[in-house]
Amino acid sequence: MPNAYISGTGYYVPPRVVTNSQLRDVYGIDTTDEWIRQRTGIVERRFADEGTGPADLAKPAAEMALRNAGLTLRDIDMIVFATLSPESAFPGSGVYLQQKMGFCDIGHFVPALDVRNQCSGFVYGLATAASLVMSGQHRHVLLVGSEVHSAALDLSTRGRQVASLFGDGAGAVVVSATDEDRGVRGWALGADGRYAETLCQRVWDMRRRPFIPVDERGVGQVVPEMMWAHMDGRAVFKHAVERMIGALMQVFAAHRLTLNDVDLFVFHQANLRINEFIREQIGAPPDKFVSNIERYGNTTAATIPILLAEAVEQGRLRRGMKVAAVAFGSGFTWGAAIVDW
Ligand code: ACO
Repeated sequence: MPNAYISGTGYYVPPRVVTNSQLRDVYGIDTTDEWIRQRTGIVERRFADEGTGPADLAKPAAEMALRNAGLTLRDIDMIVFATLSPESAFPGSGVYLQQKMGFCDIGHFVPALDVRNQCSGFVYGLATAASLVMSGQHRHVLLVGSEVHSAALDLSTRGRQVASLFGDGAGAVVVSATDEDRGVRGWALGADGRYAETLCQRVWDMRRRPFIPVDERGVGQVVPEMMWAHMDGRAVFKHAVERMIGALMQVFAAHRLTLNDVDLFVFHQANLRINEFIREQIGAPPDKFVSNIERYGNTTAATIPILLAEAVEQGRLRRGMKVAAVAFGSGFTWGAAIVDW
């Protein structure tokens, strides 16, 4: 059986920077730079312009990953697309990306799978892609995480608790087969559906007839409680800490690792305080952590692949290093993966 390694990384963030102060000055949200920085570590985030979807952000990220892997479209056997902000209810973003990248133009109709595991989407996607490669089914799987949050944030004082946290961006990796002794060593995934609505954006309810209430003219009416994301911030904080530490310990135990074996911790960027709290709890040194929440906010499925791509670009992530990637998010879902780079 081949190993599955990450042969290329890429990322893309939209050019428009929105600072914490601009949330107040431009959008009129009753907030301050100090409040957001102190509680989350976020200084600024990127917002995509109208007309841009997650597949648009994913395209340059995926092209960069392919270039860095030295591969072309023809080499790719499958697309796995992780997002919580797809263009539409269906189809998924994977087929939009396939079309935009030109796969269809060259008659290369690779399968496209969407992963709906929110902030854990990349780790779930990595487990999926690595399994397909290690089974011998595929040689090169393109895995992306991409989000356009800015369209679905309640950018008003009512929505400030959630709106100040999220930003837009995309990250991509190519998961490739190799006979070398390296790659994705294993993972631990989990979920707890008791908290399905502790962090959610419902928009519609398929149990109702019709799934979105309509007025007498047949126009759909979505009330604000359904339209915007809902989050019990304190519950998310508490569970994120417990589950991320638990998942990390699970992969450590399975692979007989200790903290000292890991060269780089690549944690989902939900909140700097969550990650610092975990770092202190497990007693890991700060210089083994990468972070970009200051610049991008929480980009959900894109946080980990953007961090990986930036770390490679900056020379912080090099061949031979051991990486621990850990995520937690809506569902609740969580996961940790160990990768020998
Ligand atoms: N600016 C100013 N005031 C705000 C803002 C804001 N952006 N957001 C909320 N407030 C106010 C609230 O309205 C509330 O005011 P009130 O007391 O008058 O009602 C007050 O601040 C305290 O609100 P809390 O929600 O209790 O604030 P808390 O200290 O818990 O911080 C936060 C909120 C930062 C979201 C925190 O709960 C947290 O970090 N939770 C983790 C959740 C998280 O990181 N989610 C990321 C997405 S999920 C994921 O990726 C895993």
